[in-house]
Amino acid sequence: MELIKNLKWRYAVKKYSEEKVSEEKVDQIVEAINLTASSCGIQPYRLFVITNPEIRKRLGEGSFNAQIHASSHLLVFAGFNEISSDYIVDYIEMMEQQRNLENGALNVLKDTLVDYFSVQTPDQNVIWSDKQAYIGLGTALIAAAELKVDATPMEGFDPKLFDEVLGLSEKGLHASVILSLGYRDNENDFLASAPKSRLPISKFSTKIN
Ligand SMILES: Cc1cc2nc3c(=O)[nH]c(=O)nc-3n(C[C@H](O)[C@H](O)[C@H](O)COP(=O)(O)O)c2cc1C
Repeated sequence: MELIKNLKWRYAVKKYSEEKVSEEKVDQIVEAINLTASSCGIQPYRLFVITNPEIRKRLGEGSFNAQIHASSHLLVFAGFNEISSDYIVDYIEMMEQQRNLENGALNVLKDTLVDYFSVQTPDQNVIWSDKQAYIGLGTALIAAAELKVDATPMEGFDPKLFDEVLGLSEKGLHASVILSLGYRDNENDFLASAPKSRLPISKFSTKIN
C-alpha cells in the first residue's frame, strides 16, 4: 500500500525551506479536505488558505511555531460557532439538488437535524464542529503526504488572535486547528533525519474476534 510508505515519509516539519508549493497541489489538498467525511455530512467548518506574509506574521505572534509564518501556505480550519436551522435548511436543499432529488425529499433528515441542533448548547456546537474540522486535518495530512508536500498540524497558536486577525467571529467561526504546508529544510530541521517513533501495532490495536 503506497499510503503506508507516504505516511512513513511524512513528519511534522519544524523548519521549512523557501520552496513554494504549487497552487495546483494546494488545490488538490483543499479538494481532498472538501471530499472527506463529516458527521451528518454538513461540513460545519470552513477553510482559509493563507499566503499573505504580513497576515501570517501577525498570526504567528507569541507562538513557538515559526511554521505559522515560515512555510509556503497556512491552512486554518475554522469551526462553526453555531449550527443554525438556516444553515441546515440551505445545506439539505443543496444536497437534494446535487442528488437530483425532488424538493422536500430529504425533509425527514432536515427536520431531524434542525431538532437535534436546536437543543445543543453553544459549547456543544463548538466541540462538535471542531471534531469535524480535525477529520479534515487528518485528510489534509494524508493528501499532502501523497503529493510529497510537507505539512505540520498545529494547536500551538493563539485562537483569539486568529479570530481577531481573520475576523472569524463576525463570520460565526473560530479557529479550530491549523496546518502549514511547504517543503522540509533537510539540513536545518533536526527532525528530518529522525526515525519515526510509534507504538508497536500489537500495543496500539486490539483485535476482538
Ligand atoms: C492536533 C495536533 C496538534 C499539533 N500541534 C503541534 C504544534 O503546535 N507544533 C508542532 O511543531 N507540532 C505539532 N503537532 C505535531 C505532533 O507533535 C506530531 O504529529 C507528533 O509528534 C508525531 O510525529 P510525526 O507527525 O512527525 O510523525 C501536532 C499534531 C497534531 C495532530
